[in-house]
Amino acid sequence: MIKLRNIPNRLQYDFMHISKLFFKDAQLTDETIDDGYVIEIVQNDDEMKISLFFDGKIINERISGIEKNSVKLALYDVLSTVRESKSEYGILVGVRPVKVVHKLLDNNNDIEEIKLILEKDYRIGTEKINLLLEVALKERNLIFKDFDAISLYIGIPFCPSICTYCSFPSNDINKKAKLVNPYMEYLIKEIKETFELLKITNRRVDNIYIGGGTPTSISNEQLGMMLKTIDEYINPDDLNEYTIEAGRPDTITYGKLETIKKYGITRICLNPQSMSDKVLEKIGRNHTREDILDAYKIVEEFKFNSVNMDLIVGLPEDTIESLKTTIDEVVSLRPENITVHTLAIKKASHIKNNQEEYNLAKSDEISKMLLYVEKKMSENGYEPYYLYRQKNILGNFENIGYALKEKESIYNMRIIEERHNILALGVGGVSKKIIEYDYFIRIPNFRSVEDYISRFDEIIDRKKKFLNLT
Ligand SMILES: C[S@@+](CC[C@H](N)C(=O)[O-])C[C@H]1O[C@@H](n2cnc3c(N)ncnc32)[C@H](O)[C@@H]1O
Ligand code: SF4
Repeated sequence: MIKLRNIPNRLQYDFMHISKLFFKDAQLTDETIDDGYVIEIVQNDDEMKISLFFDGKIINERISGIEKNSVKLALYDVLSTVRESKSEYGILVGVRPVKVVHKLLDNNNDIEEIKLILEKDYRIGTEKINLLLEVALKERNLIFKDFDAISLYIGIPFCPSICTYCSFPSNDINKKAKLVNPYMEYLIKEIKETFELLKITNRRVDNIYIGGGTPTSISNEQLGMMLKTIDEYINPDDLNEYTIEAGRPDTITYGKLETIKKYGITRICLNPQSMSDKVLEKIGRNHTREDILDAYKIVEEFKFNSVNMDLIVGLPEDTIESLKTTIDEVVSLRPENITVHTLAIKKASHIKNNQEEYNLAKSDEISKMLLYVEKKMSENGYEPYYLYRQKNILGNFENIGYALKEKESIYNMRIIEERHNILALGVGGVSKKIIEYDYFIRIPNFRSVEDYISRFDEIIDRKKKFLNLT
């Protein structure tokens, strides 16, 4: 346990999170009792003194400038004198790591300089530095263009059951069946009105991602109606990618795949999360490993340009052995993309609120699992192409998208790097409007179907604002 005393507001978030890398329990405090470890800041005109006490006695201190990075670094260094950090990402908390590299590349720093900066100014470990650079350079090659085009995200907030780790704004389709028809009616209306606005403003859509939830939870007819509407507006030659997150194998049928193929979708996600039946049961997926293999066989028949499979490392009941089996099995299917997440304990999830029911892997086990993933991916021609970290991610690791050569997903890179306009339709998405190079605003959509329907006018107003029509 460590207490953080006298921390200015502007530094509290970073101080808490950096301290947690060294001490599991870090707490802001006003108390003056001097037991255990305490961090204290004293600010003078143009410098800060960061002191570490133990039982009232000072054991180390650092002087830094008042600029945020410099204070964070001083805290990191002071804490490093008594404990080892649990993260290879140094002082990067609440920041997308690849973005830091892009900024340095924007400023024309050369690669060796960047490596030095990441090590000295951020305390990032060598392996992560190499990984971040590999991803950033790939992204610059693949997506640092077409800045005038728009990506569309269309959300379908229904799933066949709610997974215990998930906090996405989704509804159990069995419990909320009555909402599906009205939702799809409004969504189709929003699609039409948005495309009309795009026409007026002469904006080109070059990428579509239908996500959720699980878009294939809805019926084939509903899916067909939505895809037909989109088809009436788009020019397939303009699209560099068109994805649907089929996600759950228990929602995939031959008929739905025919519909998906008919309307020109090029990329489909079929997500096992794990190939262990024991794990799948514990996370409430309501499908088995066999269901995934069966669904994959049908998907393969349709020869999409790209199939993605999502996995999560660190799920309850998973062991190093069962994780290895999952990775081996998924790699042997040869999907074009494999996205490997590390479990994040999300506030609104069942796992977070019932932690005693779940047996979660420790940080060193996760580390071993991820080492295996990395090795297996590289041996089989899968290269990392996008990367992000989430709050409360186990072991402070990351999520990595892997792809076979030339099969990287444009949308996934764009959504993380935030240099492209993304217009989100339906429930749950967030539009990103680029104001100028490297500066954007987020415009979140409603998270509930009920709000979406009752406040539909506001949705269209937001679209107009996004497109500078009001
Ligand atoms: C938007 S979700 C939807 C995918 C789809 N509905 C499905 O479950 O197959 C995208 C991915 O995020 C990952 N994910 C969701 N919640 C997570 C969590 N708490 N920690 C780590 N990864 C998570 C899962 O791998 C999931 O497939
Ligand atoms: S992980 Fe996917 S299927 Fe599970 S509840 Fe979340 S969105 Fe739905």
